[in-house]
Amino acid sequence: MKVTVFGIGYVGLVQAAVLAEVGHDVLCVDVDEHKVENLKNGNIPIYEPGLTPLVKQNYESGRLQFTTDAKAGVSHGIMQFIAVGTPPDEDGSADLKYVTAVARTIAQYMDDHKVVLDKSTVPVGTADKVRAVMQETLQARGSKLTFDVVSNPEFLKEGAAVADCMRPERIVVGTDNDDVVELLRELYEPFNRNHDRMILMDIRSAELTKYAANCMLATKISFMNEISNLAELLGADIEKVRQGIGSDPRIGYHFIYPGCGYGGSCFPKDVQALIRTAEHIGYQPKLLQAVEDVNYQQKDKLPQFIKRHFGENLAGKTFALWGLSFKPNTDDMREASSRVLMETLWQAGAQVQAFDPEAMDETQRIYGHRADLKLMGTKEAALQGADALVICTEWQNFRAPDFDTIKSALKQPVIFDGRNLYDPERLATRGITYYAIGRGA
Ligand code: UGA
Repeated sequence: MKVTVFGIGYVGLVQAAVLAEVGHDVLCVDVDEHKVENLKNGNIPIYEPGLTPLVKQNYESGRLQFTTDAKAGVSHGIMQFIAVGTPPDEDGSADLKYVTAVARTIAQYMDDHKVVLDKSTVPVGTADKVRAVMQETLQARGSKLTFDVVSNPEFLKEGAAVADCMRPERIVVGTDNDDVVELLRELYEPFNRNHDRMILMDIRSAELTKYAANCMLATKISFMNEISNLAELLGADIEKVRQGIGSDPRIGYHFIYPGCGYGGSCFPKDVQALIRTAEHIGYQPKLLQAVEDVNYQQKDKLPQFIKRHFGENLAGKTFALWGLSFKPNTDDMREASSRVLMETLWQAGAQVQAFDPEAMDETQRIYGHRADLKLMGTKEAALQGADALVICTEWQNFRAPDFDTIKSALKQPVIFDGRNLYDPERLATRGITYYAIGRGA
């Protein structure tokens, strides 16, 4: 099937590569010439396990192509995916200017029936806006061409995006026209073989499903972070509590890991966007606001521990930092807890020596100008001469370090762990002072 994907960001690129891999003929359109040229040369703009070979192979086979020519994109596919960004507006609402610009472009150039699929995370009511923009544009052209708008949200996780897309748990399709369902079944047939994962619903329910899923996951995390703060004050161990509650299948073990706050391009943005959507219709979402507030506070947890230990003024202190990305297996630093940590340390006069297995280039891009940041080639190098070690991301490579090396490299044997990677008792017997989340301090 011929497919066009507008927007070669995270979602668009992964979706396009996976659709090409199963045999569809995919053309990706982006306004960024540089990005398009890079992709043609095999340079993938993001780090995502398995994505580079997938893009290269499918580009070489001709099933995956890249262009800046929007007109060619519109004429290529019967399926027109909108996968452009929806960055937060000043007030936290999702900004739809890129989505509506693509809708206008499709209506401007189309010369046969198109199925327009909203893949971007868009507020409830966006499909109606897309439809209105397209109708208006077609009317201005004096055209009577027809089209469908479908809400088809994406549920992939960074770091596991290719696998999630290849083996989706669900394919949510929101449509008001049963006739397009058959086309979507054909498109997704390779991903929908053993049992039917397609969940059909009306458009608004599909749009809300995406936000509800992310907000539910963010709620689980903030809930656990709140309980971890209580555990700390009450002298309980949140890791024991986590196992205790996770064993109830109604609660489950997933997404109840306490930590130094959730980050990334989705949870912070989507929780805020749903709050704004609710407020716009006169509803005060108390729980969502609390989820957001707890997360904001939680990102300050490690800086608080550090100040409790070293005092408010950190001038002359150097901190080794392991983990810069918002989670493992990605180089993405959007809303990462490491950023709040570094910025707070710098404000208090400290220096940072940082290491991350993948996010060094990204850190260089964001903070490369700072004299109080040194990017180190290995996790061991980051420790040399530092006053203490701070951990913000649970990369596998940090899970079983040589504690003797840590002890001898640091000026003081202190670890501030935002991801609860180690056993507090074992560290205590080794003479290391260990601050973790919700485990007593
Ligand atoms: C999230 C969702 O998990 C995906 O289902 C969704 O499709 C995606 O957003 C999206 O909307 O595009 P992602 O942002 O890639 O995926 O990352 P997650 O694995 O969900 O992690 C988000 C943050 O929560 C990370 O900072 C992570 O460290 C934190 N987290 C996660 C915790 O603090 N505790 C947990 O138990 C789990």
